[in-house]
Amino acid sequence: MAAETAKNSYSPYSRIKVGAAILAENGEIIVGTNVENSSYGLSMCAERVAVFTAVSRGITKFRKIAVILENKQGIMPCGACRQVLREFNNDIMVITRDNKGDIVRFHLADLLPHSFTLKGD
Ligand code: THU
Repeated sequence: MAAETAKNSYSPYSRIKVGAAILAENGEIIVGTNVENSSYGLSMCAERVAVFTAVSRGITKFRKIAVILENKQGIMPCGACRQVLREFNNDIMVITRDNKGDIVRFHLADLLPHSFTLKGD
């Protein structure tokens, strides 16, 4: 679903087409893609679109997120997206591809150690 969603990416400036699919505890999968803007700084990552869409639907408990580039090259979630994911699950599983194109999995706690939170978890 992440790969399929990457096809909808609006990224005329970077031409980096990213798709994200987040699996909620209730079994639902919510997708997102990156959306760029002529004013570059307004661009939004695929992962945050997926998380914010889920939260807008009342879903805040997540198990895993897949982040995939349309061209099947490797990608890692940016720091901002790691922090946004951390808000809801400080050890969510992140599934992506490495630079060889192989599927790889990470624990968020390894990608964002010693993270900031006001939640006490
Ligand atoms: N991008 C994402 O969608 N997720 C990331 O974790 C890293 C970067 C997007 C944002 C922008 O549209 C393009 O990739 C290049 O930075």
